Amino acid sequence: MDIWTLEDTTSRQEHERRVADATRHLAAGRLVVLPTETVYGLAADATTGMAVARIFEAKGRPRFNPLISHVAGCDMAEAHGLFDETARRLADRFWPGPLTLVVPRAAGSTICDLATAGLDTVGLRWPDSQVTGAIIAALGRPVAAPSANRSGRISPTTAEAAIEELGASVAMVVDAGPCRVGLESTIVACIGDRPVLLRPGGVARGEIEAVLGTRLDTPHSDPDRPRAPGMLASHYAPDAAVRLNATHVDPDEALLAFGPDLPHGATQARAMLNLSERGDLAEAAVNLFASLRRLDASGARRIAVAPIPGTGLGEAILDRLRRAAAPRG
Ligand code: TXA
Ligand code: MG
Repeated sequence: MDIWTLEDTTSRQEHERRVADATRHLAAGRLVVLPTETVYGLAADATTGMAVARIFEAKGRPRFNPLISHVAGCDMAEAHGLFDETARRLADRFWPGPLTLVVPRAAGSTICDLATAGLDTVGLRWPDSQVTGAIIAALGRPVAAPSANRSGRISPTTAEAAIEELGASVAMVVDAGPCRVGLESTIVACIGDRPVLLRPGGVARGEIEAVLGTRLDTPHSDPDRPRAPGMLASHYAPDAAVRLNATHVDPDEALLAFGPDLPHGATQARAMLNLSERGDLAEAAVNLFASLRRLDASGARRIAVAPIPGTGLGEAILDRLRRAAAPRG
């Protein structure tokens, strides 16, 4: 496996040569770990069934959930998906960025059925990473990329974490340092008369509602609306058990704190990390997955998580933590 670590000092020639290496691997159907602003992705050519099959194989995904196809620009996106007024407005405002749009699949789309799980819709995202954008543009086709972790485990926000999870399965890893957002993208479906929030993520619901001037439906509020397939209840799971809303900590627990006020017993905890000492939800999002990994490695029986507000990015943080705490299937 080939690791490319981007540095400020990387020359233009070297940059171009390495982008070409990654592009060649993808064009040949091999897997590449690519950086995005949300989490590291396990990437394959989205138009080649065999390449996408390798993603499921490497992750050990139990089911063929639809994958997000990553594009390098709105033209590429509109070649594969049909954008209505709402989808266009959201793409204009938030792309490149941590937003995925689920839209009807365009008639001419070459994205393979395995990537869309055979649906007549497609999940599209233009990620905010220059190097990944350059690789997708050079490939000239969308790249399917779930988070670069084995199925059901914590998403990687550094290249090291991705290598630990999947290093053996990939041809190349592009290391652009820690992810800026740290949480997966927000997924909004624009397929009916009203937009639906399928997964909270890196763009807060309120920001989207402000742009649209309307509330986002949630799949739970109306069972007839489409839901995100494969949103497994137990997901993002560390080896240790996870306990939410902890106002005290036992000595055999590790503490995931938030804000300046610590739960009772914090000083006796087996290990402690604070998502954000100043109680900043964006900082907490960036630190979430790496902190869970580190506390898991402390050998604690359980991770106690301090109360976190559900506003803004807190909605997505709590969504991930609830999945980590869900009974394991
Ligand atoms: O931030 C992210 O979104 C990361 C980075 C790597 O870009 N990617 C990611 O991909 O989280 P993944 O494969 O873990 O998320 C795929 C989810 C599916 O579980 C499903 O909820 C939704 O995207 N999805 C994709 N296509 C869909 C479709 N056609 N209809 C409904 N949901 C879809
Ligand atoms: Mg994932």
